[in-house]
Amino acid sequence: MPDAPRPLGRTGRSVPPIGLGCWQLGGDWGEVTESDALATLHAAVAAGVRLLDTADVYGDGRSERLIARLRRDLGADADELFVATKVGRRADPHVAGEYTPQAIRAWVQRCLDNLEMDALDLVQLHCPPPDALEDDAVFETLDDLQRDGSIRAYGVSVETVGEAERAMDRPGVVSLQIILNAFRQKPLESVLPRAVASDVGILARVPLASGLLSGKYGKDTTFAPDDHRNFNRHGEAFDVGETFAGVPYEVGVEAAREFAALAPDGVTPAQMALRWLLDRGGVTVAIPGARNPEQAQANAAVMSLSPLGAEVDAAIADVYDRRVREHVHGRW
Ligand SMILES: NC(=O)c1ccc[n+]([C@@H]2O[C@H](COP(=O)([O-])OP(=O)(O)OC[C@H]3O[C@@H](n4cnc5c(N)ncnc54)[C@H](OP(=O)(O)O)[C@@H]3O)[C@@H](O)[C@H]2O)c1
Repeated sequence: MPDAPRPLGRTGRSVPPIGLGCWQLGGDWGEVTESDALATLHAAVAAGVRLLDTADVYGDGRSERLIARLRRDLGADADELFVATKVGRRADPHVAGEYTPQAIRAWVQRCLDNLEMDALDLVQLHCPPPDALEDDAVFETLDDLQRDGSIRAYGVSVETVGEAERAMDRPGVVSLQIILNAFRQKPLESVLPRAVASDVGILARVPLASGLLSGKYGKDTTFAPDDHRNFNRHGEAFDVGETFAGVPYEVGVEAAREFAALAPDGVTPAQMALRWLLDRGGVTVAIPGARNPEQAQANAAVMSLSPLGAEVDAAIADVYDRRVREHVHGRW
């Protein structure tokens, strides 16, 4: 029996627990052609995915516009999709002072235009500067947008556990997006229990540690110049935690080799990484990026796998404790 859809916080909607991350359909991951991007979107939906995570800045709107194409192709069935987008990183410089009511309204309008929707299912603040989380006007604007029908719900995508706690202090926040995977386990300690207690949905992002958890990379693997796994490996362009979940590459390759050896028969390491996430209490949906239909199908198939069980869970915790924890646990 495939996993049942899970309620997404207080949105009133439920979603199957594997979604599709759509950053790579915009840019920053090497080239994904328009036809590959559309084929990937269609394959994900055909395999049972319903939640799509995107942002206004992914390819400067390309990712959102491709989702609009998908929605047009699907016709009336598009209503079954749940589109989660993000705003805030068009601010330049990306500082709290730029999060004015006018700017937020303009960003939301641009998402509506790109996605060709009358109302956004979910708009997430896109890793806002910490001061923006303290700014009542930001959340009053989101409440107004909800009242006037432009957005159905809002949430926050955060970098750190501290930011997650501050976001959950805001009563209107129905979802949190945070980096959570077998190499990023700190949110399990306090963020997930609090999310469960306050009915906040959790979107687990970077679920494959940028592909590292597939176990397919070696020390000599190279990535395209326009792939953040090349140009942001040391945090040159944005928070280094977004690239390989902040695990230094060589450490990650070694740890991923041990991780991959734990995969049960018939389950790939990438699938094990996603199943591990779905087995954590409090995770609503994992949003792996897929660059082709085969990856999208393999990821969706995780919804039909059995839980990994206590022995594999303990072995994954051990790999984290011995090899990864010291590099990430205190930082995010
Ligand atoms: N600030 C934010 O809010 C923020 C930041 C980051 C991400 N996100 C969201 O989270 C989503 C997911 O995170 P992510 O894309 O950064 O990382 P991810 O899902 O951890 O990794 C994606 C990569 O994993 C590999 N992969 C995917 N499926 C696979 C499979 N079945 N088998 C083997 N390898 C597989 C591919 O690598 P190859 O390309 O090498 O094949 C793919 O490019 C994004 O698309 C975006 O929606 C949000």
